[in-house]
Amino acid sequence: MSKQDRVIIFDTTLRDGEQCPGASLNPQQKLEVARQLERLNVDAIEAGFAVSSPGDFEGVNRIAKEIKGRIIASLARSVPKDIEAAGKALKPAKRRRIHTFVATSEIHMKYKLRKAEEEILRIAVAAVKMARKYTDDVEFSAEDAARSRPELLYRIYEAVIDAGATTVNVPDTVGWAIPSQFGALIRGIRENVPNIHKAVISVHCHNELGLSTANSLAAVLNGARQVECTINGMGERAGNASLEEVVMALKVRKDLFKVEMGIKTEEIYRASRLVSKLTGFLVQPNKAVVGGNAFAHESGIHQHGVLMFKKTYEIMTPQEVGWGESKLVLGKHSGRHAFIARLKGLGFKLGDQQIEEAFERFKVLADLKKEVFDDDLTALVEDEISQERKRYSLEYLHVASGTGVIPTATIRLKSPDGKMLQGAASGDGPVDACYNAIDKLTGFKGKLNDYVIQSVTSGKDALGEVTVKLSAKGQVEHGRAASTDIIEASGKAYLNAINRLLYAKR
Ligand code: KIV
Ligand code: ZN
Repeated sequence: MSKQDRVIIFDTTLRDGEQCPGASLNPQQKLEVARQLERLNVDAIEAGFAVSSPGDFEGVNRIAKEIKGRIIASLARSVPKDIEAAGKALKPAKRRRIHTFVATSEIHMKYKLRKAEEEILRIAVAAVKMARKYTDDVEFSAEDAARSRPELLYRIYEAVIDAGATTVNVPDTVGWAIPSQFGALIRGIRENVPNIHKAVISVHCHNELGLSTANSLAAVLNGARQVECTINGMGERAGNASLEEVVMALKVRKDLFKVEMGIKTEEIYRASRLVSKLTGFLVQPNKAVVGGNAFAHESGIHQHGVLMFKKTYEIMTPQEVGWGESKLVLGKHSGRHAFIARLKGLGFKLGDQQIEEAFERFKVLADLKKEVFDDDLTALVEDEISQERKRYSLEYLHVASGTGVIPTATIRLKSPDGKMLQGAASGDGPVDACYNAIDKLTGFKGKLNDYVIQSVTSGKDALGEVTVKLSAKGQVEHGRAASTDIIEASGKAYLNAINRLLYAKR
């Protein structure tokens, strides 16, 4: 196969994926996701939108410093201050890409930008030229391309390639396209842009009609050689094309697509889990490739078929996507070295302080649980990473509840300035009482939008993992925590979300 037959997988979980309300990640969490994307062997990581906030700038910059084997990209509108911020944030990267964009559909040009086509064309060319001063690798996106006039797209793509763009991206920004039409648009670009052989055609599909994967694949069949996608299909509104679906379709149906990729598919499940944990966005059980039921055969006929010959009902194996049994790894006699080695094996890189705290918690857990599995360890470490430092922390919790008892919680918190705050409250259940006490102590006046509890592994002694979503003053944040005591996990998850709301506010 020639170079032309390789599809570049451009992951935008940390930019477009993180743009969905309540999914924000701090720079440390972003780095953890980027490390997993590196293990997954994606070609490019869009690490953020550097100009949009100091946190985004820092996230892009830290990833640019640490992840050396991948292209690191930052988004930038076609305006000088964005391109400058992207260039600065990406400076330490070994391979850096500036991804600049401007809208080209009539509706966006007229109502959002209030600019005519000729001006848009000038802006696009100027942006690409400026970006080229920072790097040789420049991607240009015609935002809302799927609803743009194809003739305008041909002109703009030709002009930006002449100006130095090395990738031209065709976004279906609002998930409007259908596969046959989107495929034809890509074919049209290939056939009508005279210098298109100097650039890679990329696609970026949103999922409003549930067609983002299908549209991306139609584009590949018609010559696109970069697909932009996100883990678990995270993203604005209905999300982006899901990496795991696109990658597994290209792999399972290689007979049809005839393209190569560099993805290590056995890392898909871990990537999915990590992103779900850190963003608080749970994966639906019937989600393709990574959902809890993706490889479960319930009906007798299916079970019988799979037992006789797996391929009767399985087009890919669970092992192929890293969807395996959680391995028993450690027990209460395991020492610090074994603990650190296992963390390394799982791909975590923690600072000394974080290792110390995680090890303390592991010892407590091993006492309670006897057998500690990979999934327990992962939950515990992700929990460490999730905690916002120097904010409210739970120091003491006592809850009384039962039949005929008014549920009451007594809580002691350490406040961000180091003071101990203590108080009690009742509620209509132990979790409600606990949350009322925390509200009293922190002065939090927001709303609990969602509360989900699930076990990390099986068995009565499993860790309970709680995910909550809170909103206050138009801001939504999630919190997550795991413990063998589900009330403690509930309290910590709630505090975690409050801390994130405070942090986001700043
Ligand atoms: O959806 C979109 O159009 C985008 C662009 C900025 C690429 O995210
Ligand atoms: Zn997008």
